[in-house]
Amino acid sequence: MTKEIYLTGITTTGTPHIGNYVGAIRPGISASKDANKQNYYFLADLHALAKNEDPEKISQSTLEIAAAWMALGLDTKHATFYRQSDIPEIPELTWILTSMTAKGLMNRAHSYKAAVQANLDGGSGDPDKGITMALYSYPILMAADILMFRATRVPVGRDQKQHVEMARDIAQRFNHHYGEVLVLPEPVIDDNTAVLAGLDGRKMSKSYNNTIPLFSGEKNLRKLIMKIKTNSLEPGEPKDTADSTLFDIYRAFAAPEETAAIAALYADGIAWGDMKQRLFEKINEQIGPAREEYKRLVADPAIVEHELQEGAKRAREIAAPYLKEIRAAIGIRALGSL
Ligand code: TRP
Repeated sequence: MTKEIYLTGITTTGTPHIGNYVGAIRPGISASKDANKQNYYFLADLHALAKNEDPEKISQSTLEIAAAWMALGLDTKHATFYRQSDIPEIPELTWILTSMTAKGLMNRAHSYKAAVQANLDGGSGDPDKGITMALYSYPILMAADILMFRATRVPVGRDQKQHVEMARDIAQRFNHHYGEVLVLPEPVIDDNTAVLAGLDGRKMSKSYNNTIPLFSGEKNLRKLIMKIKTNSLEPGEPKDTADSTLFDIYRAFAAPEETAAIAALYADGIAWGDMKQRLFEKINEQIGPAREEYKRLVADPAIVEHELQEGAKRAREIAAPYLKEIRAAIGIRALGSL
């Protein structure tokens, strides 16, 4: 049986938060240690351009995300860890795939449709106001990321599932034209990995500005946890674990028996302040040991840069010869050769 190839990208916007940790970083790191899995993890900085962030922010975010994965123990000997923009084969493949992508397919992308809807709702006469071609063809770049490494499994959040399906559609159409050159990927949505709520109870997301950064320091971590929204039940009044952001986050960090113990305290009417303190201690217990290493890496970007260069070298050893095959298949080849 051929080994499954796992691949996933992390867009380099913002600083890593505990939602990223629980949803992507922790499972990614544990998979990187599994000898039966081949893993590619990369920093999707070209995708970050579609969000039109300022240059300083993109580069700082790249450093912080890479440092977080490394500090938390990513096995970069086993998994291939690289930065998208270090692999020139990816943008070239993007263009090749663009020629195999129906415009109608891109019209159906949720993210593009949401941007158009926002324009219409905002009363703009121009449905495409502020929409760049990067936002519009975002799924094609993502297809290139995936197809470049013959990934068979792509772990993503639910919001990215359609993009992986589009990569599959594009690959299918390519193969129909040019023969079986590309490998069809499948999205992997893990319903067990928690989607954490943020400070205000909505999904933790940089777009809602409600995140708890992973490594903002112990004091700040505590301060933010104290801000998490609760209801106004008094100490001693029994509390419901359903619909409690504090409980959900606790569960994502604790062993099942610890979570059960907390559920019993809820029934007994634990005070919110007490629960917040316990949550802080639980998170800090897991994150704390990596904090110093994270600080060291962020203060010394050359170490991170070196790691990414090593990763890029290995990634290109796969991408370059494969792109050559793809080029040959489409007729871009040395004259006189087949
Ligand atoms: N678009 C993804 C996100 O915003 C990130 C990403 C870019 C990605 N390329 C990818 C994920 C390839 C999986 C595979 O989350």
